[in-house]
Amino acid sequence: MSSKILITGGAGFIGSNLTEHFLKQGYHVRVLDNFATGHMHNLLPFFESYPDYFELKVGDIRNLETCLAACEGVDYVLHEAALGSVPRSIKDPITTNTVNIGGFLNMLVSARDTGVKRFVYAASSSTYGDSPTLPKVEDKIGRPLSPYAITKYVDELYADVFARTYGMECIGLRYFNVFGRRQDPNGAYAAVIPLFVKKLMAHEAPNINGDGEYSRDFTYIDNVIQMNERAMLTTNPEAVNQVYNTAYGERTTLNQLVDALRINLSKFDPQIAKIEPTHGPNRVGDIPHSLACINKAKQLLGYDPRYSMAQGLAEACEWYWKNLK
Ligand SMILES: NC(=O)c1ccc[n+]([C@@H]2O[C@H](COP(=O)([O-])OP(=O)(O)OC[C@H]3O[C@@H](n4cnc5c(N)ncnc54)[C@H](O)[C@@H]3O)[C@@H](O)[C@H]2O)c1
Repeated sequence: MSSKILITGGAGFIGSNLTEHFLKQGYHVRVLDNFATGHMHNLLPFFESYPDYFELKVGDIRNLETCLAACEGVDYVLHEAALGSVPRSIKDPITTNTVNIGGFLNMLVSARDTGVKRFVYAASSSTYGDSPTLPKVEDKIGRPLSPYAITKYVDELYADVFARTYGMECIGLRYFNVFGRRQDPNGAYAAVIPLFVKKLMAHEAPNINGDGEYSRDFTYIDNVIQMNERAMLTTNPEAVNQVYNTAYGERTTLNQLVDALRINLSKFDPQIAKIEPTHGPNRVGDIPHSLACINKAKQLLGYDPRYSMAQGLAEACEWYWKNLK
């Protein structure tokens, strides 16, 4: 019998990509999601293609009983469920806290009590806060700049304490601006790449916060899938109970991003090449630059990211062109 993986937040962007990948690998996958920001359409194909291997539990990680039931019979947990977005957390810190910390703790307790072998969870580059150091190295963080950043850091602290106190195996993946197929372009808290793609495809100007010289380590989804797989399966004892930057290790400014999107999308619609971005004020809670050092993941997990930002962007644009039209 193949191993069973519980993917929380499996109806969302990263979770549905992990679900697809591990179903293709022959694992049993159970998804737990309450559809707060995820979508049933991200999961529908799996019911048809993997009827004996795919299972959906609709439920909320804020409920301990739900988490316990979801962890029953599971070998590995990939915990992705959370409320993302810095601005969302600034507007409503209580809900972000309840889901991202309370829900996280419920999942840790449930994984412990049901004997899950390993708990791999979505951490965040926001934990680097106001640290000006570039590139970001795992053991050097600054002060958090948003309620969201606090929640993701508290999760790391809980995972570390559970590992040391109860002998659990936990691995945190600090994602850096992940992008790719199925990332949601809609809603008030859409991420910058799908938001700009949607604008450009509608022949509208994307609006950049600030002068466009802020930069990010944009990370293609397939590199993130590889990190999850390596973290889940590593047999290196030194690699367990650690946190890892999960990124490509290159930074791109917002101005460069818009240029690259225009070039990629103008292959499908030449008019897009002429659309100029507009600029607004910088956003509260945003750090100017973000760039990961990925040496720790390379050394301890054998991480070998295959997709540069440019390669990932070309694939993502093609996907959006086919699926958003
Ligand atoms: N996308 C990024 O660039 C990025 C960067 C850093 C960290 N992360 C983290 O990665 C994880 C996945 O992010 P994503 O981009 O796929 O976001 P997403 O919003 O697409 O997915 C999150 C999923 O969690 C579900 N969810 C939310 N609250 C829930 C609850 N109370 N109970 C059950 N399910 C719930 C949502 O419905 C959704 O399907 C999150 O933990 C996020 O904080 C993402």
